[in-house]
Amino acid sequence: MPSSPIPDLKIKGSSTQSVHAGGSRPYANHALTLPIIQTSTYTFKDTQDLSEFMGARMWGLEEGRTEYGRYGNPTIAAVEAKIAALEQAEEAILFSSGMAAITCTLLSLLSTGQHLIITDDVYRRTRQFCTTFLKRMGVECTIVPAGDSTVLEAAIKANTKVLLSESPTNPYLRVLDMERLADIGARRGVRTVIDSTFTTPINQQPLEFGIDLVIHSATKYLGGHNDLLAGALAGSAQLIALVRQNQWVLGPVSDPNSAYLLQRGLKTLALRVRCQNATAMRVAEFLEAHPKIERVWYPGLASHPDHQVATAQMKGYGGVVSFELVGGLEQTSRFIDAVEIPIIAPSLGGVETLIEQPALMSYFELSTEERLEMGIKENLVRLSIGVEDVQDLLDDLGQALDGQ
Ligand SMILES: Cc1ncc(COP(=O)(O)O)c(C=O)c1O
Repeated sequence: MPSSPIPDLKIKGSSTQSVHAGGSRPYANHALTLPIIQTSTYTFKDTQDLSEFMGARMWGLEEGRTEYGRYGNPTIAAVEAKIAALEQAEEAILFSSGMAAITCTLLSLLSTGQHLIITDDVYRRTRQFCTTFLKRMGVECTIVPAGDSTVLEAAIKANTKVLLSESPTNPYLRVLDMERLADIGARRGVRTVIDSTFTTPINQQPLEFGIDLVIHSATKYLGGHNDLLAGALAGSAQLIALVRQNQWVLGPVSDPNSAYLLQRGLKTLALRVRCQNATAMRVAEFLEAHPKIERVWYPGLASHPDHQVATAQMKGYGGVVSFELVGGLEQTSRFIDAVEIPIIAPSLGGVETLIEQPALMSYFELSTEERLEMGIKENLVRLSIGVEDVQDLLDDLGQALDGQ
């Protein structure tokens, strides 16, 4: 596994880590940047070389190489080391997507007859995996309201093994109390898993609070340019080793080109996220003061139900702002069609500002009643702030609202 080029890197700031952690120079041909090792398999000099490697592997003692692409790749390993440094984790694993990270982790932590708890405001495919796939395997799932630790703890049973939530959640940006969650997990012997996609390690490092595992859809902020799909998991060496064994069996590995793009994106993670935090705050304040807006959901606003815990535990409130327009489905769609800079697309966390009406994007196939049951209102808009100039965004949102 390549080591860090800066001694004691774990004590450096996140921007330094974003740029320098992971990989070990000198790279081939003295290249400054991380080489893309584009290979699916690795060679052996002779049979003795192979036997020595296999012998060492049997005891987990092989160093610096592997034999096949599904079991490792130097480009991917360098990016895993960078993500581990950013999350202050012992180790990290890269996956082909965020969903691959979520499904592989849950399949590793749960067996038939066990129980998991998730919060209601989670990515719908995560919820779908828990309530359909895991159910078929005999794993029971309880859904509790995000932001209520008392209800969450009360849902724990003798066979509960995992508590999984996002923070901030999607789309209402509910922020979980990490200290409280980690304490519940430790006292009740339940593993705590946080999908920190919306937060990024720049705004919060859940492991620092005692959370067991952190997941990212690296497709979002970590990659940051809407040009790759990847997932990541960070945590203790012991838990990561368990999940890695299963990744080798299930196969949802990343690839060297995506890993290269991801580490290039990661180099500007701190810059992008700080810019997105600041712009999102200005946009949230602007929207909250606008007469055509019914309600804004942003943890940086005092009106958000989790403002206090977010202020106490996060270094920034993130780059996503959700809001409800005065009016219904059609009026909200007209507003979305009237903005010029934000682009209609699912996903979030990239340099381009993206806008979506969840009722017509992720929840399109559901009826109004089913959507409302899941808390998805028809006048709800999710805005993922990019790195455009804040005044341009404010002017654009203003003209679209004033035209309603
Ligand atoms: C919070 C969250 N977690 C996980 C995922 C899944 O990630 P991916 O699309 O990389 O599989 C998403 C995707 O939108 C997400 O928003």
